[in-house]
Amino acid sequence: MSDKRNILVLGSGGREHALAWKIAQSPLLGTLYCAPGNGGMAALAENVALDMADHEAVISFCRAKAIDLVVIGPEAPLVAGLADDLNGANIAAFGPGKIAAQLEGSKGYTKDLCSEADIPTAAYGRFDNACDALAYLDTQSAPIVVKADGLAAGKGVIIAEDMQTARDAVEDIFDGVFGEAGAELVVEEFMTGEEASFFVLCDGENALPMATAQDHKRVGDSDTGPNTGGMGAYSPASIMTPALIDETMKTIIKPTLAAMARRGAPYRGVLYAGLMLTPEGPKLVEYNARFGDPECQVLMLRLKSDIVPALEAAATGSVANMTLDWHDDAAMTVVMAAQGYPGSYDKGTVINGLDKVDAETMVFHAGTARAEDGTITATGGRVLNVTARGKTVAQAQASAYAGVNAIDWPQGFCRHDIGYREIAREQR
Ligand code: AMP
Ligand code: GLY
Repeated sequence: MSDKRNILVLGSGGREHALAWKIAQSPLLGTLYCAPGNGGMAALAENVALDMADHEAVISFCRAKAIDLVVIGPEAPLVAGLADDLNGANIAAFGPGKIAAQLEGSKGYTKDLCSEADIPTAAYGRFDNACDALAYLDTQSAPIVVKADGLAAGKGVIIAEDMQTARDAVEDIFDGVFGEAGAELVVEEFMTGEEASFFVLCDGENALPMATAQDHKRVGDSDTGPNTGGMGAYSPASIMTPALIDETMKTIIKPTLAAMARRGAPYRGVLYAGLMLTPEGPKLVEYNARFGDPECQVLMLRLKSDIVPALEAAATGSVANMTLDWHDDAAMTVVMAAQGYPGSYDKGTVINGLDKVDAETMVFHAGTARAEDGTITATGGRVLNVTARGKTVAQAQASAYAGVNAIDWPQGFCRHDIGYREIAREQR
């Protein structure tokens, strides 16, 4: 490998803009490409129209441009085996292979792995037909959780407050409301506690804790309205104390990596554990095989170290002797979305005032496009991530919302309470 690396970032969300922004600061970077990218990434990399589902096309592009590392942002290409295909063509890829990505791609796979490795998680049943699932429900009581097994864009989880809702969810899933993702389902005990996200860099054997964060999934203030991909996040989440991080590493992360290695599918990449901090200790809610979006945006703003060696270590080397330096500051991000999201929304509305945002505040783009003349238009549901650091989450929040207020986009909206749990803790 030459001194400088040519890197391709795959994806078009705020997560990928944040990754590209951080990679662009690396002295190791040669040329940065993004595919398909967005209006923000266009300002710091060359955006390429590549179809991630066409693995041969990605490989051909990597060969043509002498790409040294492909950073796979979203879950779908990981679950489809893109990392394996790239590795097979001798191209390094950040992200797990197809089987390891089953930790996100199949809830039943993960639950069985937890059961095998004695990893704390909700009690469950795994079913491939309605009859057995309904019979199991008859032995359970509400509230109870029904989950489509596969990738369902965050929509496949039904928290049933009563048994009829749970039965309806089982029928709906096997009737195909989530398509292929609902060929199987998991019925799970309802856990109570506060949730936290924990990100770990993995090289197949070793795990390096990165950071903690908390996401805000509901569309409305005070966690009301439908679920979204995430309306804002902050890091660190102080509820994840050093003792809880140690316990999570010991009881959840390390046993998972060992079990995956035993299965012949060592996990490389970032492992994102969604945790429920229950009275009995941290329990796994779910794994994701990628960075969270918008959690990645706050992580990248807090990361001091060069990210390129870390991505390379996870992809092809070892994280055993690696350390990552983080700013002590908190970071938070507010998602600006198109009015109507997560339902239907208009595309093509013009966003002004981005140049009025304080230089210390980063605006990571998600669904945007940049015209030749620099005009930015909204092209998606989640559109901008206004991201700031501060000594406290309250300070970061003040800066982020000052950024939101500087942006002139009448067709957009955001939540006004991102970080509220942590700010309440800070004020105690
Ligand atoms: P998941 O896609 O598995 O993360 O589920 C989405 C959300 O549903 C989680 O972030 C939790 O808020 C909630 N959830 C999932 N499973 C459970 C559970 N067993 N008990 C309580 N809440 C859950
Ligand atoms: N923000 C939640 C996720 O990325 O899954």
